[in-house]
Amino acid sequence: MYFFNDKENVNLIDAFIRAVVATTLFYIGITQEQVLLVPISAFLLFTAVSRSCITYSLFGINKSMLKLNYYLNFLPKYNPSPVFIFTAEGKIGFQNRISKELLPEIKTINDFGCRNYTQMSHIQYQKNNLTYQVNIKYVTQMNAFFTYVTDISTVVNLQNEIEDTQIEIVDLMGMIGETRSKETGNHVKRVAEYSKLLALKLGLSEREAEMIRVASPMHDIGKVGIPDAILNKPGKLTYEEFEIMKMHAELGYDLLKYSTRDILKVAAIVAHQHHEKYNGKGYPRGLKGEDIHIYGRITSVADVFDALGSERVYKKAWELDRILTYLKEERGVSFDPKIIDLFLENLEEFLVIRDRYQDVSEKDLLNALLEEKEPVLS
Ligand SMILES: [Fe+2]
Ligand SMILES: [Fe+2]
Repeated sequence: MYFFNDKENVNLIDAFIRAVVATTLFYIGITQEQVLLVPISAFLLFTAVSRSCITYSLFGINKSMLKLNYYLNFLPKYNPSPVFIFTAEGKIGFQNRISKELLPEIKTINDFGCRNYTQMSHIQYQKNNLTYQVNIKYVTQMNAFFTYVTDISTVVNLQNEIEDTQIEIVDLMGMIGETRSKETGNHVKRVAEYSKLLALKLGLSEREAEMIRVASPMHDIGKVGIPDAILNKPGKLTYEEFEIMKMHAELGYDLLKYSTRDILKVAAIVAHQHHEKYNGKGYPRGLKGEDIHIYGRITSVADVFDALGSERVYKKAWELDRILTYLKEERGVSFDPKIIDLFLENLEEFLVIRDRYQDVSEKDLLNALLEEKEPVLS
C-alpha cells in the first residue's frame, strides 16, 4: 500500500505540465511516426504520476521538498505516542511500534468503539483505567485515516477531581440549606434521585440528568438567609412571614448566579425556579408554562412529592394516596402536566427511591451509635 511520499520531488504544477507535455509528445510520436517519442512520453508521464524525478534527484533540484517528504515519512514511525494509518475500509495500513505495544487489540478502526468517522473525529478510548484521546483525520490525498492516540488520563483524572469537588461542595451546601429548615439530609438525596429519574424519563441526556441530580439538593440553599424564627415556626406563617420565606428562591439564586461552573449554573436555575408554578402563580417571578426552565419544573415536582410525604415542623407526613390525588389536582396548575404524567406512569421506580433513602430518626441513630449497630429505618 502506498502511503508515503518520501521520494516526491515534483510539485503539483510541475506534474501537471509534465503530463501535458507527455501527452503532446505521445500524440506527435504517433502521428509523425517518431517512435522514440513514445517511450520518452511514457517515462515523462510516469514521473508526473509518481511525482518523482530521477533527473531532479541527480541535480539536487527540489532537494528541500524531497527532504521534507523524507522527514514526514518518518514522523508517524517515530512518534512517541501510538500512531495508526487505516485504509478507507478501516484496516491497518501502518502502525508504529508503540501502538503495537500499548494497543495490540486494535485491528481495525472500529475497534476504537466508534462506527461513524467524519473528516476529523475525536473520540475517547478506555483501557486499563487509562483514557486515550483518539484523533482521527481523513486525508483525502492518501484515502486513509491518520490516527494519533494520546494518553489523557491525567487530564481526565484532574477533571473528575474538579467535578467531584464541585459535587461535594454542592452536597454540603444543599445539606446546610435543609438543616437550616430542620429537614433531613435524606430529603435532598431523594429529591436529587427523583429529579434525575424525571429528567431521564423526559428524554434529557444522561449527562444533563446527572447534572440535575447533583445540583437539585441546592434548591433551598437560599434558606441560609431566612431567620430561624420563620423557618422553624410550627404552624402557619403570617402573610409578612411568608413574604420573607419566599425570598429564599431569589437569595439562593443570588448566591450562585455568578458561578461559571456547569453544576453551579444548574443549581442557580433550580434555586431560583423551584417554586414557580405552571399557571404563572408561583414565585419569585411568576413565570408561566414552558417559560419556567425544565430544571425548575422537574425539581418542583420532586421537591413537593417528597416534602408532602415527610414530616415537617408545621405538618404531619401525608399518605401516598393523598399525595397522588394532590399531584393529579395540580397537574397543569402548579406542575407541568407532562412531568406529572411521567411521574405517575413510573410511580413504582420513584417509590423504590423513596424506600432506599428512608429517613432515620434521631432516636434510632443515637441508639444505633450506642449499641454500634445499623440504625432501624423508620
Ligand atoms: Fe424552596
Ligand atoms: Fe426541599
